[in-house]
Amino acid sequence: MTSFILRGFGLYAPEKVLTNADLEKIVDTSDEWITTRTGIKERHVAAEGEASSDMAFESSKQALAEAGIDPSELTHILCATFTPDSMIPSAACRLQEKFGITGQMCMDVAAACSGFLYALQTARGLLCLEPKAKILVVASEVVTRRMNWEDRATCVLFGDASGAAVLTAGEPGDGPEVLDIMLAADGSLGDLLTVNGGGSAYSYKLGEAVGPEYFVEFQGREVFKHAVRSMTDISEAILERNGLAKSDVDVLLPHQANYRIIDAVGRRFDIPEERVFSNIHKYGNTSASAIPVALAEAVHTGFIKPGNLVLIPAFGGGFTWGAALIRF
Ligand code: ACO
Repeated sequence: MTSFILRGFGLYAPEKVLTNADLEKIVDTSDEWITTRTGIKERHVAAEGEASSDMAFESSKQALAEAGIDPSELTHILCATFTPDSMIPSAACRLQEKFGITGQMCMDVAAACSGFLYALQTARGLLCLEPKAKILVVASEVVTRRMNWEDRATCVLFGDASGAAVLTAGEPGDGPEVLDIMLAADGSLGDLLTVNGGGSAYSYKLGEAVGPEYFVEFQGREVFKHAVRSMTDISEAILERNGLAKSDVDVLLPHQANYRIIDAVGRRFDIPEERVFSNIHKYGNTSASAIPVALAEAVHTGFIKPGNLVLIPAFGGGFTWGAALIRF
């Protein structure tokens, strides 16, 4: 085992776009408020019946094609999501079914917005056990299905999307190399950001209407504060662990939750705005999908160039957080 190589990237966003002007017709909000507080201008919304595995199928096909890997060669499918098609089966199993393949280890990874980094780290661990593995690491979120469209404080922030990548073992120089990942969590802060409904702590009776607990609920200011601090601290830690300085980072590609969070992390790292990747204006917060969608876009548009050192901090419900270092 020498290196962990990302072989291909893919992204998918549903066709339907909901602009801030559209939202003005649904809740008491304004384009001005949403833009200045979050940087979001529009977001994609899944079609009726479109589930996480449908979107994952699209982004994964792209990633596999770019990697030159046939779905039948896959050994594992890891899907980061808090919005799987169903409690059982997992979105990963549904995705496997869509590819018409069987036998792979298929598993969903639940770490909210940090899910893609959690899944990628799991994939690295699996590769240590099975160096010949070819692992599809995908994130897919239909967050809008868990939106309370009467709550203006939450429903303007999120969107639906899927992003994917394929991880295999290889030699340095074979392709983008995952140099390191650090992950953390603090369950004592879990109540600050929740989707409680559907969980086993809640009892439902047949025919009973769902309450607000079924939807995303959070304390925005607290989440904001912890997100900036945790992403900054873990980014400093991963650089130190790898003997790197802030000035070694070519591109900062953070989780896309709010442009003000992205900007605050960028400032703490003295990284000029033009080297901080953000596409939140087009997608909103797509939870676990935000990082792989951003990665796919940054690679395909040439924002990330060969040789670049990319620092990827993430933060989400749990609380969970982490950082990855990738050398392209
Ligand atoms: N349109 C208009 N007004 C609004 C809206 C809206 N959509 N939402 C809230 N307001 C009002 C509030 O009611 C409040 O009014 P009041 O002062 O009369 O009470 C006012 O705007 C200010 O509200 P705040 O919550 O203080 O606004 P803030 O500047 O903190 O921004 C936001 C809120 C955008 C949610 C911010 O706190 C944030 O981005 N937090 C972190 C993001 C987050 O929680 N994401 C959840 C996922 S976790 C993750 O991905 C990291």
